[in-house]
Amino acid sequence: MQVYLDYNGSAPLAAEVEQYLINRLQEKGPYANPNANHFLGMKCSLAIEKSRNSIAKAFSVKSEKVFFNSGATEGISAVFNHISHINSKSEKKILIYSDLEHSATINCADYLNEHDDFEVVKLKVLKNGQIDLDHLRELIAKHSSDIKLVSVMAANNETGVIQPIKEVSSICAPKNIPFFCDATQILGKSPFSFDNLKIDFLCCSGHKIGALTGVGALIVNDPDNFIPLIIGGKQEGGLRGGTQNYIGIETFGVAFDLIENKMSYLSHIESKRDQFEESLKNLFPEIVFFGKESPRVCNTSYFSIPGISNSDIQVALQMNKIFVTTGSACSDKKDSLSHVLNSMGFSGDIIKGAVRLSCAMKETVNCFDYALEVIKEKFHK
Ligand SMILES: Cc1ncc(COP(=O)(O)O)c(C=O)c1O
Repeated sequence: MQVYLDYNGSAPLAAEVEQYLINRLQEKGPYANPNANHFLGMKCSLAIEKSRNSIAKAFSVKSEKVFFNSGATEGISAVFNHISHINSKSEKKILIYSDLEHSATINCADYLNEHDDFEVVKLKVLKNGQIDLDHLRELIAKHSSDIKLVSVMAANNETGVIQPIKEVSSICAPKNIPFFCDATQILGKSPFSFDNLKIDFLCCSGHKIGALTGVGALIVNDPDNFIPLIIGGKQEGGLRGGTQNYIGIETFGVAFDLIENKMSYLSHIESKRDQFEESLKNLFPEIVFFGKESPRVCNTSYFSIPGISNSDIQVALQMNKIFVTTGSACSDKKDSLSHVLNSMGFSGDIIKGAVRLSCAMKETVNCFDYALEVIKEKFHK
């Protein structure tokens, strides 16, 4: 049996999405350009609108504010591209983000810093894995009118720590400072409500919630004044050119509709994760759990056992067909240490041991128990 514990990296297709696709393929269509004005095109277009409504409902926004794209990386790039264009004539322009952000965000901010005269100011990160809100307040008091964007993700992909986005929104909104929230990792893993929050831009991604890869959405609070990254034939109301990935979008809608049902599993998953961490702590009293003292998404456990390298654990688990990562998917293939853990103030030695387990939101078997058994047998003296 294969045990997949890298749902934060990419979730396999949800069973309901798989069934939807099977039915759709068996029905042999409709396949058409959703922007065409014939019947088949309109059928594809209606299916896109159904998904748009599901996503708008989940985020409590009007469907006119939801735009489909290829995933969170594109959403992030579109936001930074827009910010760059609308501020092209500003003399002083500051971007605020922290090292907790996904590398897609950090690299966009760095790009604007290098090529576009933007100054970047990094938010301090607390040891518990959350941003330092006092530092944000200080920065806003000092630079208010020069701040062109504040980026704070909803939940971190490595630690699973949930960020205080309600507070960030209430700090930015009165000063009219644009707030961008990368919501990619919170969906389906923790109850979330974006009701009554002023978030100017929000991105999410299909393959993190059991839809097909290559589809995502960007929510833009003021779409009339948004500058598109891809102009194309002005599809998606002119905000994202290119023929829509309509089958991907349909699966995104199906996966979004499942989120509400998954909420009933959260406490069950959380208790399995907590039991796993307690057992590990009993075996390895010196173990460090990252972000354990903060609110975390329920499926993630991220830890380091001093003296045991993360690759040794990863390989031992892999020999037993248990698949985990040693950080975010983007950093896995590099030798560099996690920028997230570094910003939380952990030493290089501890970071070198970091292993992340992230399970499905609907477990049929207890994946954490399988991993525990192998770690115990292989590394406990
Ligand atoms: C928090 C976060 N943001 C953005 C991304 C990038 O998403 P995508 O693969 O859809 O481009 C990821 C995926 O790893 C992520 O975890």
